[in-house]
Amino acid sequence: MSRRKIIIDTDPGQDDAVAILLALASPDALDVLGITAVAGNVPLALTAKNARVICELAGKVDVPVFAGCDAPLSRKLVTAEHVHGKTGLDGADLPDPAMPLQDAHAVDFLVDTLRAAPSGSVTLCALGPLTNIAAALTRAPDIAGRVPEIVLMGGAYFEVGNITPAAEFNIYVDPEAADIVMKSGIKLTIMPLDVSHKALTTRPRIEAFRALGTRIGETVAGWTDFFERFDMEKYGHDGAPLHDPTVIAYLLEPDLFTGRHINVEIETGSDLTRGMTVADWWRVTDRPANATFMGGVDADRFFRLLTDRLARL
Ligand code: BDR
Ligand code: CA
Repeated sequence: MSRRKIIIDTDPGQDDAVAILLALASPDALDVLGITAVAGNVPLALTAKNARVICELAGKVDVPVFAGCDAPLSRKLVTAEHVHGKTGLDGADLPDPAMPLQDAHAVDFLVDTLRAAPSGSVTLCALGPLTNIAAALTRAPDIAGRVPEIVLMGGAYFEVGNITPAAEFNIYVDPEAADIVMKSGIKLTIMPLDVSHKALTTRPRIEAFRALGTRIGETVAGWTDFFERFDMEKYGHDGAPLHDPTVIAYLLEPDLFTGRHINVEIETGSDLTRGMTVADWWRVTDRPANATFMGGVDADRFFRLLTDRLARL
């Protein structure tokens, strides 16, 4: 397999952190050109710090980390400390990072990298609100034709919402940015709550992380333990959804997932349903398909892949 070049745009977040570790554990398949931080789960200063904490945990201090937008395109930032804790990475004690943040702004890095690399060679992985990516597309519309695919975690259809009754967090925080991405014409692969609510951190799956007997295994078990408490109370499920690693797992083993190529649009006008992903799952409109919206995952294989890969770090 030739290595796929990716940029990870993210707001870590414990589940973002596991996704980043999965990517960094897979140098045979993925070449992580950089990590761009965006405000989301916690404010930008923390997401930019957390991205570096994670790289250092993985021993990959040469991966450049950039800070991006500190607020949505046209709204006030909404954060999710109630899920992820004050730091965004509550659940494990990790040292402050020594590796520097890059001087360039994340949006400049996205634009410059996409323009410099051969067209079609750099895939974007989006694990948070889509502000940085939408800002890059707005500033440099020419890059849209150079991105072969955006794989993103966001939205929901049958599972509806997790931050409001109608909306999933990443899309809710910056619906205007999501709208720009949905209309970009770029090939989109979406991992909504419909997928992640089937990828649950059950007790045996958390214990499998811990049983790796490594610092990474212990840390991932600590993180998943932490947000499991909150999510189990909320959903009454056996375990909490592990959202963002589905994006990286898709790049490694796409046949873990099933979905439909359909029309997906974003509600930006209504206060009641702000950030809703209106997915034409039953194809009841003639609106053109613009995204592959996933719905199914082989959860046991997904967690096996995750544990096997994390064992390599
Ligand atoms: C998404 O929101 C964040 O809390 C998680 O990191 C994930 O990206 C799930 O709705
Ligand atoms: Ca995230």
